[in-house]
Amino acid sequence: MLIAFGSLKSSPGSTTTAAAVAAMWPGSGAGEPVLLEADVRGGDVAARFNLATEPGLASLSVAARRSTDASLVFEHVQELPGGLKVLLAPPPADRTAAAMKMLAEDGRPWLRAVAEQQDLAVVTDLGDLAPLGWGWAVAEAAEVLLLVVRPVLEELTRVISAAEALLARCEAAGTRLVLVTVGVGPFSKDEIEAETGIAVIAELPIDAAAAAMLAGRPDPRGILSRLAGGGGIAGLPLAKAAGALAATLATEQLRPGSVSDAEPQDAVADDGVESDRIGALA
Ligand SMILES: Nc1ncnc2c1ncn2[C@@H]1O[C@H](COP(=O)(O)OP(=O)(O)OP(=O)(O)O)[C@@H](O)[C@H]1O
Ligand SMILES: [Mg+2]
Repeated sequence: MLIAFGSLKSSPGSTTTAAAVAAMWPGSGAGEPVLLEADVRGGDVAARFNLATEPGLASLSVAARRSTDASLVFEHVQELPGGLKVLLAPPPADRTAAAMKMLAEDGRPWLRAVAEQQDLAVVTDLGDLAPLGWGWAVAEAAEVLLLVVRPVLEELTRVISAAEALLARCEAAGTRLVLVTVGVGPFSKDEIEAETGIAVIAELPIDAAAAAMLAGRPDPRGILSRLAGGGGIAGLPLAKAAGALAATLATEQLRPGSVSDAEPQDAVADDGVESDRIGALA
């Protein structure tokens, strides 16, 4: 299974959300979660957790050339506190971009093999989804691309502008495109779906304590990071919401055309008054 998180502009929470979903991935039968850091602007997780930058995405991208062995990931992972396996991107943007370029040029068969591997769940943080970005190779191989957005006017306006092209690209690739909102804003889920034409699969809370632990910092109460382990994020609101999202991703067939295919346009088709709101303000 291959799942991709991305964003249209900096810092709505793509890295934090991907880490939360991987950390809260359900146990038995749902596949082993691996967090893949793949933001072409460079990685953050190695610095956040004070880890070496190798092995990781750079070494993996070389090994994955012309390979279809999904289990290669385990030769390049490191572990975060609590045991979550992670493929770290090098912090310098040029090195991560070079690795992503290699994956895009020579690693597409390998990415498809990962997507088809049911005992593996690679949760990818693509970060910036620039139209010409190398991250699209991962998004196009993934079952689902989750666009992380804060439900505020400037971010939603950006999603609305890009929606048609994003939906067309995902449809052509057989990837489901959905939104994940982080925090609250003036717009309801129905309004967001009506205006963007993209289903909102999860609404995640602002949770400074969980976000801090997911960034390798002791939480405000001074408890060391343990991710989903005892004393970690498991009981916190962001973790609970990420766990529910992870369960949905693990159990539902998310590719377009599958039984659970949501139709956001139909679902909000008669919601004319409310749905004009974002557009009117934008
Ligand atoms: N659900 C949340 N609750 C509270 N804080 C959050 C949440 N999600 C993210 N944050 C905080 O917001 C900031 C940006 O988060 P993050 O690094 O995950 O965003 P990003 O989209 O990956 O950013 P970038 O574009 O720089 O890669 C961080 O300080 C993080 O701790
Ligand atoms: Mg990030």
